[in-house]
Amino acid sequence: MNRLLIAGNWKMNLGPTEAKKLAATLAKRWPSGSFTNQVVVSPPALSVAAVVQELAATDIDVSVQNVHTEDSGAYTGEISTPMVKDAGCRYAIIGHSERREYFGEDDVLVAQKTKKVIADGLTAILCVGEKLEQRKAGQQESVVKKQLDAVLDHLSEDDASHLVVAYEPVWAIGTGETASPQQAQEMHKFIRNVLKQSWSESAGSKVQILYGGSMKPANAEELLSQEDVDGGLIGGASLKADSFSELIEIAESLTTDG
Ligand code: 13P
Repeated sequence: MNRLLIAGNWKMNLGPTEAKKLAATLAKRWPSGSFTNQVVVSPPALSVAAVVQELAATDIDVSVQNVHTEDSGAYTGEISTPMVKDAGCRYAIIGHSERREYFGEDDVLVAQKTKKVIADGLTAILCVGEKLEQRKAGQQESVVKKQLDAVLDHLSEDDASHLVVAYEPVWAIGTGETASPQQAQEMHKFIRNVLKQSWSESAGSKVQILYGGSMKPANAEELLSQEDVDGGLIGGASLKADSFSELIEIAESLTTDG
């Protein structure tokens, strides 16, 4: 079993002052050596510095929510991977459905960004997932395969240790509706098989596949217990120290029991 990864995506919430407070509370609750799984938080770019500083004495890693494909230049409003590394981040979320939907990111751009993130030594949390009408039409696997193949075509097996895939069914994001544990497991197994077929059995096995979409303390145990669910990418429930800490505790109880 892979280690579980509990990742909080704060989206466009918590400026530096509020982000610092949440990070300070998490740092107190989770000092270095207090968990065996992996924990990541992804604040808005403007809050990254404050969060990195507050979490310096912990094992919690920091991520950004997006990057540009170039190192520097005339790209007003963008941030680059060298900047992200300089700021102390180890992860970047790429291809979130909100970026695909509201900022026009297509599979080609998502692939370029993922490649850049991994080439520069960061770990990419690549988001994939179908919309409600696609699931209703039974197209979820072909949609996700297309999203994955677009990226995998540009990566090699050696990149496996720097890739995390997050399955986020769009209909479950911020809606309170969650994929059932069976729906999640089915899709995660499908994703795992795509990875294994593109690369190899061992490379496909070691990629962590996270579930995202209204994960919260009440449903996390069942979701995280599924064989191919290696963690969660959590929006709403990551914005409060209590609920996020509960999710970390649930992950810990599953790995120490198992
Ligand atoms: P919610 O947990 O708020 O549904 O958000 C999920 C998500 O989009 C994480 O990236």
